[in-house]
Amino acid sequence: MGRSWSRRSRVRGQQVRFWVSRSEGETLTIGAELARTLAPDGVLLLWGELGCGKTVLTRGLAQGLGFERREIQSPTYTLIHEYERSGTRFVHADLFRLEPEQVATLGLEEVLAGPGLKVVEWADRLPFPVAGALRLRILVGASGERRIEEIDEP
Ligand SMILES: Nc1ncnc2c1ncn2[C@@H]1O[C@H](COP(=O)(O)OP(=O)(O)OP(=O)(O)O)[C@@H](O)[C@H]1O
Ligand SMILES: [Mg+2]
Repeated sequence: MGRSWSRRSRVRGQQVRFWVSRSEGETLTIGAELARTLAPDGVLLLWGELGCGKTVLTRGLAQGLGFERREIQSPTYTLIHEYERSGTRFVHADLFRLEPEQVATLGLEEVLAGPGLKVVEWADRLPFPVAGALRLRILVGASGERRIEEIDEP
């Protein structure tokens, strides 16, 4: 299940959380749990290589908010997907194809400051900082397990 651990950050000395997921289902559960802490208006920024599970985690968040997780597509052509249901708002952006200069033209800074739970895949493309965001990196381990950890650098 979505059990989390924490360790002391080498960079700033505070506790940072991490999770280990051994299946897509476990990552969905971790996402659903994160949704509870980030709702209604939080921001989650995601780092991690192609296929590490950013979209799976995003679907878990959406499911935690009460959306049908299959509704949440990988936003390949549309860069920002916005979902709304009975007053709950969910925004999913995927910046993979973009350069930071292009991201600056999307109006994403306003969207991330606005209402709803917002998730950004490929957050390394963001040309601006997002105050108060939860920042997570997903790493793929030797036996395919995913380590999802809070990023502690400033
Ligand atoms: N523990 C795990 N957690 C999440 N996904 C897993 C896990 N183990 C295997 N997988 C598989 O890894 C793939 C993750 O795909 P996903 O689209 O979520 O990656 P992504 O990081 O969004 O990729 P992209 O950078 O292309 O957007 C899925 O096929 C999923 O089934
Ligand atoms: Mg993806």
